Amino acid sequence: MKETCGIENVLLVSKSNKENQLLEEAIKNYCSDINIIRGTSVKRAFEHLKKSSIDTVFVDYTYSKADFDFFGELKKTGIVVHVIALIEKGEELQAAEAIKDGAYDYLIKDADSHTNLPDVIKKIQSLSILKKEKEEELEQQSYLFKQIFRSQKWWQNIIDSITDYIFVIDQKYKILRTNKAFANMFGKEPADIIMKPYYELYGLNSPHEWCVLQKNKDRFNTNSIEEEINNNVYLISYFPIFFDDHEAVVYILKDVTETRRLKDQIYHLDKLSSLGTLTSGVAHEINNPLTGIIGYTEMLLLDDRDDKTKKYMQKVYDSAIRCKRIVENMLTFSRQTPALKSPESVNDIIDKTIELHEYWLRNTNIEVVKNYGKVPYISIDRQQTQQVIMNLLINAEHAISDTDRDGKIEFTTSHDTGDATVTITISDNGKGIPAEVLPKIFDPFFTTKPVNKGTGLGLSITHGIIAEQGGTIEVESVIDKGTSFIIKLPHSG
Ligand SMILES: Nc1ncnc2c1ncn2[C@@H]1O[C@H](COP(=O)(O)OP(=O)(O)OP(=O)(O)O)[C@@H](O)[C@H]1O
Ligand SMILES: [Mg+2]
Repeated sequence: MKETCGIENVLLVSKSNKENQLLEEAIKNYCSDINIIRGTSVKRAFEHLKKSSIDTVFVDYTYSKADFDFFGELKKTGIVVHVIALIEKGEELQAAEAIKDGAYDYLIKDADSHTNLPDVIKKIQSLSILKKEKEEELEQQSYLFKQIFRSQKWWQNIIDSITDYIFVIDQKYKILRTNKAFANMFGKEPADIIMKPYYELYGLNSPHEWCVLQKNKDRFNTNSIEEEINNNVYLISYFPIFFDDHEAVVYILKDVTETRRLKDQIYHLDKLSSLGTLTSGVAHEINNPLTGIIGYTEMLLLDDRDDKTKKYMQKVYDSAIRCKRIVENMLTFSRQTPALKSPESVNDIIDKTIELHEYWLRNTNIEVVKNYGKVPYISIDRQQTQQVIMNLLINAEHAISDTDRDGKIEFTTSHDTGDATVTITISDNGKGIPAEVLPKIFDPFFTTKPVNKGTGLGLSITHGIIAEQGGTIEVESVIDKGTSFIIKLPHSG
């Protein structure tokens, strides 16, 4: 780049052409590449100032006053330019006046030498350098602002792309920052919730127990906890930080409802499988002596005995039969036999199972309602599925018999083409299951029934059969209103 003297466009405003010419030559001695406009009246000087980028004006002070009020007009128009007043030699007092009027400096008119021209030029030059530096600084600043803005946006985009719920609160629980996911959870945008107390979003008047601030530092002992909020389980992590020199806390909430459910399920399946191995061994061992007891008791019962002996023999026989039923249940539970799958209609299986149990249902005055949907044939083990329905039917019946209302058991089936499943729902209007019992009902040997009524194996067998067929079973229950078991079985193609 060509080296410049820092002054680019100069306007010379003087009455005398000769004076202008001499000054131009003098200036060009210092700055050869300068662009000089000369020979204009004071009035026309403004036209130049308005349209071209003049940085310095040399104006004859006396002339500037006589013809047109140069300095007054300059103030009025607000044009920013360095004005150097040309002062007659011997009239130096005018210099102070010119500066008062707004001149940046003055130059003594001296036909031959323009004595203080080098100083004036130096001053203008240093001013231009300063101006340039200022411009560069401003440019740098605006670049930095742009960079900061971009990087802020970049980080905001990153935290907005995170599906966990993130928010930062101050010492009054007010939200300083948040991500989209957190705001969207309440149907809002981040901008809508900034500076609002976070707990108001949850419809509360005070913060949750888990929400700690820096001032409760003693409670910052662990930075990850699991909490249930509005029926969902969240893993909550929190980190104390400084935000704009103030203490703040970052909260990250991860929805682990599904993970926790799966964990519970795996734990349950694990428990089932180890218990299965154990029970099958025990059941086999007991089965043989039991067959002996039943067989010999039957034979003894055929003999002619007195009533008391017969009564006792019958008791031995009944108890042995009950033991056999328990052992059979245990063997089914540990199921060594793999499922024998064939295309079956669940509506048909339910019908046949109800038929098998019709006598009981009639006797107990329970109404059976069938809401069958159009379901496709699915590949399942008919006998095992029948056993599932029977277990659930008997449970429903027992639950109803514990109330004094008219019983009703409803079977609903449906087909969901979306996730390719067939759903069977068995609902009863029985006594319902208390919340504290609910997590245990699928556990083997868990029963709330009297000794002669339940072994506590029905639901664990049911759970095992459904899981082996690739399905799921869930329960919904309202105490004193009834219970629904929802089975989902896969339908492939
Ligand atoms: N429909 C239902 N309504 C209310 N409680 C139920 C229902 N189904 C199951 N339960 C509860 O779950 C427990 C476990 O059921 P599960 O079928 O495993 O065993 P059980 O019925 O007690 O004995 P069995 O081995 O003879 O089936 C029951 O004892 C009962 O408390
Ligand atoms: Mg049962």
